[in-house]
Amino acid sequence: MDILAPTTILDGLRTRLLGQHIVLYETIGSTNAVAKTLAQQGAAEGTMVIAEGQTAGRGRLGRSWLAPRGTSLLFSLIFRPDLPIRRAQGLTMICGLAIREAIREVTGLPAQLKWPNDVMLRGRKAGGILTEVSSHGEDLDYAVVGIGLNVNLPVNALPAEFRATSISHELGHAVSRVGLLQVALRHVEQRYSALQDGKWPVKDWAAALQTLGQRVELHTEQGIWQGLATAVDAEGALLLRLDSGQLKRVLVGDIVPQGEAKQHR
Ligand code: BTN
Repeated sequence: MDILAPTTILDGLRTRLLGQHIVLYETIGSTNAVAKTLAQQGAAEGTMVIAEGQTAGRGRLGRSWLAPRGTSLLFSLIFRPDLPIRRAQGLTMICGLAIREAIREVTGLPAQLKWPNDVMLRGRKAGGILTEVSSHGEDLDYAVVGIGLNVNLPVNALPAEFRATSISHELGHAVSRVGLLQVALRHVEQRYSALQDGKWPVKDWAAALQTLGQRVELHTEQGIWQGLATAVDAEGALLLRLDSGQLKRVLVGDIVPQGEAKQHR
């Protein structure tokens, strides 16, 4: 098992901002929760909270995130972008794209994204992103983007119904979490700087989504719909063509490939 230590992460980290200030825990409740507290206390943009293990890892839609200690990358980044709150999904998009690029660069695996923020390897979930924001009025005050990535995780360590996979499972050998993290942070920083320059990432994001063009079942708080995932709009909402022909726009939900049970985590 490779050890996460600030010195090894900083050694060879080619970023100017992201991860230059590291708060590392052996075990913590949730890196997102800590990062939010630090952000409220004025922590600098780019601060990274990272842990070997979490006792209360958070997933989307109130779920928990499970990862045996030492197997994964579990980290949260603090951003203070000059963006309106309705554009916060842009941060999730750039982080998803950057993780995908890092996995491809480091391992050669053809990572994909699944709407809205899953990282997929060969059709199974290998990672997830949870973005939590604080705003004043229409503007973002700060955003915490939490990333959980199954790196060297034996898939039988998670319940089979999660249908999860990991990088080591797909590759057949372990990879350096530190090396992968360094490359991921570099890609996030490049994409963040483009975002700050006004380049909206939705086109790249849509191209990376394995979801588009598939018949899917969409689970939302308002109900379950089936149809063809046709496109995403500028804010990241999914446009679903229902069998009735109606186009449904959904901002928050879960996609389940038709014929499969809903994935939990
Ligand atoms: C999801 O797919 O539901 C999103 C999962 C996000 C998990 C990560 S692990 C690091 C960070 N800290 C948390 O508590 N959650 C995110």
